[in-house]
Amino acid sequence: MALHVAVIGSGPAGIYTAEALVKQSAEPVLVDVLERLPTPYGLVRYGVAPDHTSIKSIANYLRRVLELPQVRFLGGVTLGGHVSVADLLRVYDAVVYCTGAMVDRRLGIPGEDLPGSVAATDFVNWYCGHPDVDPGRFTLDSSEVAVIGVGNVAVDVVRVLAKTAEELRHTDVPHDVLDRLSQSQVKAIHMVGRRGPEHAKFTLKELRELGELANADVCVRPDEAAVLGADFPRQVQGNIKVLQSWAGREPVGRPRRLDVRFWLRPVEILGADRVEGLRLERTRLSEEGRVVGTGEYETLPVGMVLRSVGYQSVPLPGVPFSERTMTVPNEAGRVRPREYVAGWLKRGPTGVIGTNKSDAAETVRTLLADLEGGAPVSRPTVESLLAERGVRPVTYDDWLAIERAEGELASSLGRGERVKLVGVDTMLRACAHLE
Ligand SMILES: Cc1cc2nc3c(=O)[nH]c(=O)nc-3n(C[C@H](O)[C@H](O)[C@H](O)COP(=O)(O)OP(=O)(O)OC[C@H]3O[C@@H](n4cnc5c(N)ncnc54)[C@H](O)[C@@H]3O)c2cc1C
Ligand SMILES: NC(=O)c1ccc[n+]([C@@H]2O[C@H](COP(=O)([O-])OP(=O)(O)OC[C@H]3O[C@@H](n4cnc5c(N)ncnc54)[C@H](OP(=O)(O)O)[C@@H]3O)[C@@H](O)[C@H]2O)c1
Repeated sequence: MALHVAVIGSGPAGIYTAEALVKQSAEPVLVDVLERLPTPYGLVRYGVAPDHTSIKSIANYLRRVLELPQVRFLGGVTLGGHVSVADLLRVYDAVVYCTGAMVDRRLGIPGEDLPGSVAATDFVNWYCGHPDVDPGRFTLDSSEVAVIGVGNVAVDVVRVLAKTAEELRHTDVPHDVLDRLSQSQVKAIHMVGRRGPEHAKFTLKELRELGELANADVCVRPDEAAVLGADFPRQVQGNIKVLQSWAGREPVGRPRRLDVRFWLRPVEILGADRVEGLRLERTRLSEEGRVVGTGEYETLPVGMVLRSVGYQSVPLPGVPFSERTMTVPNEAGRVRPREYVAGWLKRGPTGVIGTNKSDAAETVRTLLADLEGGAPVSRPTVESLLAERGVRPVTYDDWLAIERAEGELASSLGRGERVKLVGVDTMLRACAHLE
């Protein structure tokens, strides 16, 4: 009898886990990848920026895992909605939680909930066509926008704001979103870091791209680009060099302007009924290396604030969760007997797609060692469980039909390879699930 494992979540962590199970197991293994959306690939589909087409092509690798005979995609199935942990442990020998980190971290400052103050998670979901966010959600009607945070997500958000709609036309951005982007009133973007250039989290390649924007002048203040010391890792030295090279640049009159700012922390988002400004306090590092305010303030006259200060995981019903680390406590991936975790839910929302591969491999090593030599147990099937719950899962073939429909939509609109379908019902219609 084959070992039957459920992987929850079809992002990189989930799919690398499925692959590692097939590769590492000496015994026959069957893996079901359960996913709440009708579509696989997690943040590769709904996070990686639409203009980063070469990174998005990692989906072609992930697809090959879903096509392995031992692996099955079951979309439209939510843990904590359609099925519980107890259900899964009844029908599978082991369960691996790979549900990522879906929500934004909070700033905890006044005005954070004003209309116009937006979590990067929502904005990214919007331009990526995530079914949780309506394509009509954002109108870019402010001429000045602040992006808080200097990580790679902030850089993605800035690039999408700075580019013309025409530059994004060949991407898979939903057509209604492209339409909104074409009406954008944004003229000035302020990207704000609470520490210095030497502490910024963005990577060199991503930073350099900002300097190559055809539609925006990039400006850095010489005093804010200055750093003390020279003993930095190579990546950081690269960032500093690029930022300092921009510090001397004069704008050449491109339609948009990007100001990359440092040593400023947000203290209040201002406005009566909606965002009218962002109050910042100049910072420095204390002797202990903590960010402290200097009592010197400035206000940016922005109508929109995008908070890009990191993602965080949410607890899954019935699964242990640490409110301190915002992850599932584990030892090399083991949570409890027969329960495991991988990816951002295991180690927090950092690291690139590839990081999840070694992470998943570790979890699978733990799982297989734990289950080795166990007597086979006869269990009810997941099909009977889902039928009991009235759930007809979206199969891999259904997903291929959605993909085809996205290709046809792109052709009919004269756009690139594909244009995202938005909304679960639209996707289900494309694979005839609603007929
Ligand atoms: C905006 C953004 C852009 C990024 N761009 C890049 C990039 O260009 N290059 C790079 O290398 N890395 C990038 N990353 C990092 C990379 O995306 C992550 O390392 C990776 O996606 C984490 O994988 P994961 O499988 O843990 O989570 P996810 O990719 O988030 O996958 C989790 C999956 O679980 C599903 N799920 C959630 N809850 C449930 C539930 N209850 N039941 C069933 N399914 C559920 C979700 O729908 C999702 O499909 C980016 C991250 C973000 C946030
Ligand atoms: N192209 C790519 O490869 C790519 C693209 C997107 C994302 N990713 C990866 O995905 C992961 C998540 O990226 P991310 O950008 O969301 O997170 P991140 O790299 O952790 O960056 C978060 C940023 O928010 C700042 N921040 C946090 N709390 C703040 C506060 N209260 N006030 C002001 N600023 C605050 C951080 O500053 P401090 O440093 O001072 O805390 C940091 O600049 C990263 O590993 C990233 O590399 C990769």
